Amino acid sequence: MAANLESLKHISPDSGFPITIHPHFSPRIRDHVPPEPIREEIIPEKDRASFADPEKRALFAVAKPVDLTESIGTVLENVQLSQLTPQQLDELALLVNERGVVFFRGQDLTTDGQVKLFEHYGILDRHPAQKDARHVVIRGSREDHREINKYTPWPSGEWHADTSFEINPPSYSLLRMEEHPPVGGDTAWVSGYGLYDTLSDAMKKFVEGLHAVHTSRLQYDTILDLWGAGPNRPPIDSHHPAVRTHPVTKLKALNVNTGFVTGFAELKKHESDKLLDFFNLHLHSADDHSVRWKWEVGSVAMWDNRCVLHRVIPGSYEAPRRGIRTTVFGEKPFYDPSSEGRAERERRLKKAATNEQSDNSGVKENPINTPA
Ligand SMILES: [Fe+2]
Repeated sequence: MAANLESLKHISPDSGFPITIHPHFSPRIRDHVPPEPIREEIIPEKDRASFADPEKRALFAVAKPVDLTESIGTVLENVQLSQLTPQQLDELALLVNERGVVFFRGQDLTTDGQVKLFEHYGILDRHPAQKDARHVVIRGSREDHREINKYTPWPSGEWHADTSFEINPPSYSLLRMEEHPPVGGDTAWVSGYGLYDTLSDAMKKFVEGLHAVHTSRLQYDTILDLWGAGPNRPPIDSHHPAVRTHPVTKLKALNVNTGFVTGFAELKKHESDKLLDFFNLHLHSADDHSVRWKWEVGSVAMWDNRCVLHRVIPGSYEAPRRGIRTTVFGEKPFYDPSSEGRAERERRLKKAATNEQSDNSGVKENPINTPA
């Protein structure tokens, strides 16, 4: 049980258990004045991945890719991130766009090196609870996350894209593990491309007309009450397209997560609640589009928040878990109705290749197997 919660000071005489405190009755939340204003929209530089060789020849000349699942996740072997050239870093970004998350083991990267490397990808973002301007320290929480959810409003163990509530949510995140227990603390990622593809056509059409409400309010209250820290910025609600178009791959990805999304702008309350309930099931049952990573000291994961969600698998952490995370600002999420789903694109390309083949052979195949 978390020691720092205001609720713990208010015990019910009937049950002997803490009472849930409305945020405004918690002096820590009520009295906090964030030192910085709400952010304005920025237009980031063109994504580095759009400068990459589509075949990634420079990167694959030194690194061996091993795909972990069909849908998401690739390990790059035989390579040190610290040695990559700007051209190879661009190709890595494109690989991350396509595979969602790319992993490395045994890296010699330092925090300074990580910050420098990530500056290649854009302007470094800062989490609302982040004091260091360049990176955030991710620590393992030993709390029972199901128990905490009774007293703090933010479901911290849920699927999310990092700070998806921002006007410019981060594009790339990189997490490098400096301390880790031998077992526990895995992270899972799920593909936004796959989450979109596995909806029915009718559902795709419906969801594409919606905006998801991504809020930092619940995390804001939790940072103050549970973490005992002061958020830099006031809470914010952003309405982002429920299906977004990836600016480089031009693919559609589901942009709904259970960590920060509280509803849908265009729907009435009960409609919205039920749809969110469906997405909770949709995200948690997408084993065919997810990957789970076991960390070691020196392991690195780089992911693209525009096309994957992630969550830490909660554990009891017998030893400290400490990682260094850097993120860069992405574009304001947008939806382009002319973009396509990944499965749809694969079908289109396959069909085009088959047509080309039969055109080249000069023989028109008879698709119906009947005696002549
Ligand atoms: Fe995260």
